[in-house]
Amino acid sequence: MSATGHETAQHAVQLGLPELPAEPYPAEVRERLDPDAAAIVARYPQSRSALLPLLHLVQSEEGFVSRTGIRYCAEQLGLTTAEVTAVATFYTMYRRRPAGEYHVGVCTNTLCAVLGGDQIFAELQQHLGIGNNETTEDGSVSLEHIECNAACDYAPVVMVNWEFFDNQDPASAKQLVDDLRAGAEVTPTRGAKLCSFKETARILAGFPDGRPGAVDESGAGGAPSMAGLRLAHGETLPGTGPAKVVAPRQQESAEEPSETEGDEA
Ligand code: FES
Repeated sequence: MSATGHETAQHAVQLGLPELPAEPYPAEVRERLDPDAAAIVARYPQSRSALLPLLHLVQSEEGFVSRTGIRYCAEQLGLTTAEVTAVATFYTMYRRRPAGEYHVGVCTNTLCAVLGGDQIFAELQQHLGIGNNETTEDGSVSLEHIECNAACDYAPVVMVNWEFFDNQDPASAKQLVDDLRAGAEVTPTRGAKLCSFKETARILAGFPDGRPGAVDESGAGGAPSMAGLRLAHGETLPGTGPAKVVAPRQQESAEEPSETEGDEA
């Protein structure tokens, strides 16, 4: 049999073998997870509604959603592992491979891409020596290209553990990952200070962020996010000249003569 034929046969055999059921979590892990899982399930009138936060909870344990984590969620909620897998693989915030302590997402959706996101992603891969969805050998940084994060007004955007780093370029992004790997303090452009990927996953599971001041730091939309609304309200903005944006309805009512004016003519 040729090498290629042998590989094909091996591949076919692998495909044909059913996967063995995942191992359950060890008792000490269950001891820690069970009370948290019960608290999550108790939030909902129907237990299956708890699946999304429960997946974040298992992600906070392992840094990704493993087959064991899927089995755990299924057992907690009376679902099949196939049902849990369908959800876990649909949403991109659930990782199928272990994340680094800092998970770096580079937006390569249209606006970020044309403003430099593609270049940032290419240079970060080279700089870190890893590809998409891979983790550095020291486990500190994982890299992923991500879809629009609704931060297009600050494009190109890089996220670290889902916190925003706005208006990046290849040099600032490389400095960012170097600082993360060196353990230097890194502050997002806006939002709360960084914590590890697993800690972030626990907050996303709906447990309080206990870090002093972190909730107040979460902030709101910045000036670029509000510019369109202010223009629509007829304000002029610095650097936009004297022209005002007039809402179409206001323009029509200013141009059309009122019924009273027509009667008088
Ligand atoms: S395109 Fe990157 S945040 Fe929207």
